[in-house]
Amino acid sequence: MCGIVACIGKRRAAPILLDGLKKLEYRGYDSAGIAVSEGGAVVLARRKGAVSQLEFARAYPGTMGIGHTRWATHGAPCERNAHPQTCGRIFLVHNGILENAAALKKECREQGEVFASDTDTEVAAHLIDRYFREGGDLLHAVWSACRQLVGSYAFAVIAEGREEIVCARRHSPLVVAKGDGEAYAASDLGAVAGAGRTACVMEDGEFARLTQEGIALFDADLASVVRDFFPAGEEAAAPEKGTFRHFMRKEIAQVPLAVENTLSGLQNQDISKLIEVLCQTKYLHVVACGTAYHSGLCFKYAAEKLSRVPTEVFLASEYRYADPVLPDHTLTIAVSQSGETADTLAAGQLAGERGSPVVAVTNVEHCSLNRIADFVVPTCAGQEVAVAATKSFNAQLAALYYLAVALARGRGMRAPSLAGLPVLTHEALLAGEGVAAWTPYFTVARSAFFLGRGADRCAAIEGSLKLKEISYLPSEGYAAGELKHGTLALVDARTPVVAVVCDETLADKTMNAVHEVYARGAPVFLVTPFEELARSEQVTASVLIPRCEPAFSPMLSVIPLQLLAYHVALALGRDPDKPRNLAKSVTVE
Ligand code: G6P
Repeated sequence: MCGIVACIGKRRAAPILLDGLKKLEYRGYDSAGIAVSEGGAVVLARRKGAVSQLEFARAYPGTMGIGHTRWATHGAPCERNAHPQTCGRIFLVHNGILENAAALKKECREQGEVFASDTDTEVAAHLIDRYFREGGDLLHAVWSACRQLVGSYAFAVIAEGREEIVCARRHSPLVVAKGDGEAYAASDLGAVAGAGRTACVMEDGEFARLTQEGIALFDADLASVVRDFFPAGEEAAAPEKGTFRHFMRKEIAQVPLAVENTLSGLQNQDISKLIEVLCQTKYLHVVACGTAYHSGLCFKYAAEKLSRVPTEVFLASEYRYADPVLPDHTLTIAVSQSGETADTLAAGQLAGERGSPVVAVTNVEHCSLNRIADFVVPTCAGQEVAVAATKSFNAQLAALYYLAVALARGRGMRAPSLAGLPVLTHEALLAGEGVAAWTPYFTVARSAFFLGRGADRCAAIEGSLKLKEISYLPSEGYAAGELKHGTLALVDARTPVVAVVCDETLADKTMNAVHEVYARGAPVFLVTPFEELARSEQVTASVLIPRCEPAFSPMLSVIPLQLLAYHVALALGRDPDKPRNLAKSVTVE
């Protein structure tokens, strides 16, 4: 998926587009492009690589344009596959996937049309160009083309000789905003917010025409629709690294604040209706992807332990096609940092259709997931820039543990307080710095293992994901007791093993696995609050984190693992903020 931006007004478009694209780079950064219209002629600039490669185009004249930052789906990341894609007088940017692109291209080719790229998007430009030449109306041409498209799209389209931008949305996010004599569109609000502006999140199936005079919205039949615009005056300040070398490192340092803000935000918010529904719930389902899925696993452990309510955690991409069984009185919690992940959105929607109330746990106020949910539980991590989720994971845990505690207490059970967690995360952060010394064992490794039992296993899986996504070192998070049933065959002296041991009742069992890998020559690293375990002769090095209620311990134990991934990535010369092939928000299937 990708980020798109468009603007029309009195000011020069190129700087607005480039600054907007920088705010959207979390959605992809393998190539970028803009098209700017000046006196009816459109100038195109596209480059492989990050948005910064387009700085040469900042001086382009023209007050209308479109821009794109790409995460390749169809076609390798290169200049000719970068957007805007073009055909005839049409230029367009696209976020989404056109599933019938191959069939449509074949049809176009049979009529003698030639394609310049490998993208699915180009075929939309061909169709729009065809209808535009026939009818001369850009909005109608885009609408006609969209009727032929299967899949997901957020489009912004311009045509040579026209002072208007036409947008269309289906299953990909798109926000429009207007100010004094100017109009904007973008994949997220942050890229279009600004002093004196108002904005509106387009609905699926809607079209928009942007001109200097304002924004006209249309439904799927092109009938005019009137929508409320909300103030969008807070221009999101471009996040800064400050004294840190990378956003990821800064965001790990912000974990205690993220946890504190999330907990105090929930304490100060009236969520009594949600708590009421929660306490009547017989089954809890969590749907999520990536790191958010791992926070769901941690929640399952805490919720079942504290409240005894059966809790299932589903990968949203599996759930949506699994014909899931939702018993009566099931509450579904959809967890997503961005609130835009296509699979999580679809899973939440499906749960709602099957009669379950849906709770969105998200970090972005005006996101799509919040709009389809019955209840919203905000995480207050602040904007997260690095692709690898860190502080947002801890903030998700804070919010989910809050619900687990409320549920337990609502059912008349005792549950520990969460009040100490912000301070404890701070202590874990200080202690976690010790992992920098482990780095040499990982830079020469062939692969790594992260082991744990119970809640520790959940932290281990997330630690493993962090390492592989930013260092590219093959790594697995595994149930400590399961290792011996096959996976142990992979362990040798070049396989560092990190064991997470925070639950005293399971410590001896996990240490059995430590003995087993040690016996095969693996260097062993421990994340634990227990000093005597850290002193074991099998342990190469350890980080001592504070003790806390075992059900909540991933909140602390994950911090050294986040730092480990960061240090290993740095030592291997990777960019921890922008790992290859990944994007922060995945709005396609
Ligand atoms: C992408 C990101 C992951 C993230 C996942 C889910 O794959 O690279 O870091 O965990 O999406 O994102 P969400 O916004 O739904 O939490």
